Amino acid sequence: MALNSRKVAMVGCGFVGSASAFALMQSKLFSEMVLIDADQNRAEGEALDISHGMAFASPMKIYAGTYDDVSDAAIIVITAGANQKPEETRLDLIQKNAKIMRSIIGEIKKRDFEGILLIVSNPVDILTYIALKESGYPANRVIGSGTVLDTGRFRYELGEHLGVDSRSVHAYIIGEHGDSELAAWSDARVGGLKISDFCELRGHFNHEDSMTRIFDHVKNSAYEIISKKHATYYGIAMAVVRICSAIVRDEKSIMPVSSLMTGEYGLYDVVLSIPAVVDANGIETVVPIELSETELLALKKSADILKDILKDNV
Ligand SMILES: NC(=O)c1ccc[n+]([C@@H]2O[C@H](COP(=O)([O-])OP(=O)(O)OC[C@H]3O[C@@H](n4cnc5c(N)ncnc54)[C@H](O)[C@@H]3O)[C@@H](O)[C@H]2O)c1
Repeated sequence: MALNSRKVAMVGCGFVGSASAFALMQSKLFSEMVLIDADQNRAEGEALDISHGMAFASPMKIYAGTYDDVSDAAIIVITAGANQKPEETRLDLIQKNAKIMRSIIGEIKKRDFEGILLIVSNPVDILTYIALKESGYPANRVIGSGTVLDTGRFRYELGEHLGVDSRSVHAYIIGEHGDSELAAWSDARVGGLKISDFCELRGHFNHEDSMTRIFDHVKNSAYEIISKKHATYYGIAMAVVRICSAIVRDEKSIMPVSSLMTGEYGLYDVVLSIPAVVDANGIETVVPIELSETELLALKKSADILKDILKDNV
């Protein structure tokens, strides 16, 4: 079946899936969106509710469907699976969600799907690796949302700290989307200036303290939100729109999606986030930004943690 570049499928319509579907409807990127969930009523309810906003947005076809509807989609976004409960880490979800991911990929594989898989369910790096291996699709077509959200949080925090538009901040969170992630401080720029120079321009000289505080806040923000409102979904929904936009519009945007490492920084056969050029084919190329020795060690430690989990679960 020919691929319809204006069609998206959402598998999983809980907090994250429904918020992402709602944000995608408003983005006007697609003309057709199919919602799939193990709970058919949930998918039908969300399709109806979101469709009722269409009169205030722009026309598109939104409906609850089955895997038979994914064949011609340009992108399948997978958000199905259990979410973190208070006190749980993302890695605690592995057993439940790996099983769900395998069953979903099994269904997709039976269809003639030629588009891009965007994995959002956690632990996203492990599940993206599983999706890649189970599907047998080329690595450019299997993307994890990775640290795109964490990077958005990082840029927001830095923007607040420095009194500058977060879109003028170029700074990445890389590695695992989880507890072992790290901030690539040595590569961070604001308006082309090294971040420490921009900080001093703004009267901030206490770099070490600020860096620790901002990074801790970014790393722990999912825990904070979950303890307060039981789930996180608006931020990730916007990240899903951003990634879909880069694909649908063939933007060649650089963002830290998670992808298969094939020798970058000496890392092989593990999926994690470093910046990559994203276009209509998914991952065009990975961009190995410059890291300090400490950052490189932290990235390797993050990869080792993920590899240990893969060894026991894949
Ligand atoms: N990558 C990120 O940055 C990020 C951010 C937030 C949440 N998440 C993750 O997204 C996932 C979803 O979170 P949520 O808050 O929406 O959870 P949720 O419990 O609200 O929704 C999960 C949905 O998945 C459905 N589901 C379960 N098994 C399924 C299957 N086999 N096929 C189809 N649908 C199935 C459930 O019926 C439910 O509607 C979690 O793993 C969560 O940790 C990721």
